[in-house]
Amino acid sequence: MKLLVTGGAGFIGTNFIRYWLKEYPDDVIVNLDRLTYAGNLTNLKDIVLAYSDRYVFAHGNILDDTFVSEIVETHQPDIIVNFAAESHNSRAILNPREFFATNVMGTQVLLDVARQYEVPRFHHISTCEVYGELPLDSPDAFAETAPYRPQTPYNASKASADHLVNAYFHSFGLPITISNCSNNYGPYQHPEKLIPLFATNALQDLPLTLYRSSHNRREWLHVDDHCRAIASVIHNGKIGETYNVGSGVEKSIEEISDFILDVLGKPESLKTYVPDRPGHDCRYLLDSDKIHRELGWKPIIPFEEGMRQTIQWYVENRDWWEKIQQDAKSDSVEEDKWEKFSKQKRETDEVDK
Ligand SMILES: NC(=O)c1ccc[n+]([C@@H]2O[C@H](COP(=O)([O-])OP(=O)(O)OC[C@H]3O[C@@H](n4cnc5c(N)ncnc54)[C@H](O)[C@@H]3O)[C@@H](O)[C@H]2O)c1
Repeated sequence: MKLLVTGGAGFIGTNFIRYWLKEYPDDVIVNLDRLTYAGNLTNLKDIVLAYSDRYVFAHGNILDDTFVSEIVETHQPDIIVNFAAESHNSRAILNPREFFATNVMGTQVLLDVARQYEVPRFHHISTCEVYGELPLDSPDAFAETAPYRPQTPYNASKASADHLVNAYFHSFGLPITISNCSNNYGPYQHPEKLIPLFATNALQDLPLTLYRSSHNRREWLHVDDHCRAIASVIHNGKIGETYNVGSGVEKSIEEISDFILDVLGKPESLKTYVPDRPGHDCRYLLDSDKIHRELGWKPIIPFEEGMRQTIQWYVENRDWWEKIQQDAKSDSVEEDKWEKFSKQKRETDEVDK
């Protein structure tokens, strides 16, 4: 099988490519990535050497329909697996347009090209966050039939893309599947995201900044379990269907910070508290019964074990994240914008009271 993977230089795409090439020795992967700040080709350096005959990199933007068409025409993939996205909620608050361009219009370009070239399958990677939030004390979990109630620009862009993918199935018969996954953790995750951020800050004795709502809970899944789930949907999923992918393991942000400090032997005094981000969802929890029942997928990596391995990976790969942090220093304008935005929001909230 030949796969066209988009966004394969990001966190989950990297882990997926590494997983797939090892697991399926006859398959070939074309990785189409724009290499935004979140894309990092060093993630796949060893893969390029080890699998040079089964791995191709194509540098480009999923919004560029001419480029995407050329890639599909040249490589004739059996499936497009779409990971490419702007994925950081906080950045979406500052720059929603970028998120709608890539996540919605980019997905539409891919769907159109898939349709035009009759690509036999399209699998779209989505998130639990499209369903909105649950109250902390709710016994409920979101099944695939739950209504979409996104509350942040990132979530709204992912929800819009899911609707588009479904619409191409219903209107044009495009053979699609979608997987909506809970929060992932694992190696190669950009240090702006919670677990690597806390791990790398603790390693540098820098503060771990928690929002006041740090009792907010998330459902955590190891990225390798996510990759296995995607594989089972690709191989056995029913066309036109959506599958939730979660672990059932919920941890608050406070619990995550405590776990990381404990593993690294760092003091609790590194924790500091700041006001909440706007639209900060309280809790997400997926009902993943469908993928358990229909495809026999279940997560196999226990949370504590997966977290210890992940933290150890950041301990051992300091060069990897230090380079990203150095590059991000030029992005400090964004931080200033964020500070200004938060201050204005606090002032508006005071007036509204
Ligand atoms: N990280 C999570 O916890 C999580 C959970 C559920 C779903 N998801 C979804 O999984 C997918 C991958 O997430 P991630 O955490 O690996 O994201 P990431 O931000 O680490 O990687 C995104 C990748 O997409 C590439 N990209 C961005 N815009 C592009 C464009 N216009 N054209 C081509 N490539 C482009 C980037 O260069 C990067 O390599 C996303 O669709 C995300 O919504 C993520």
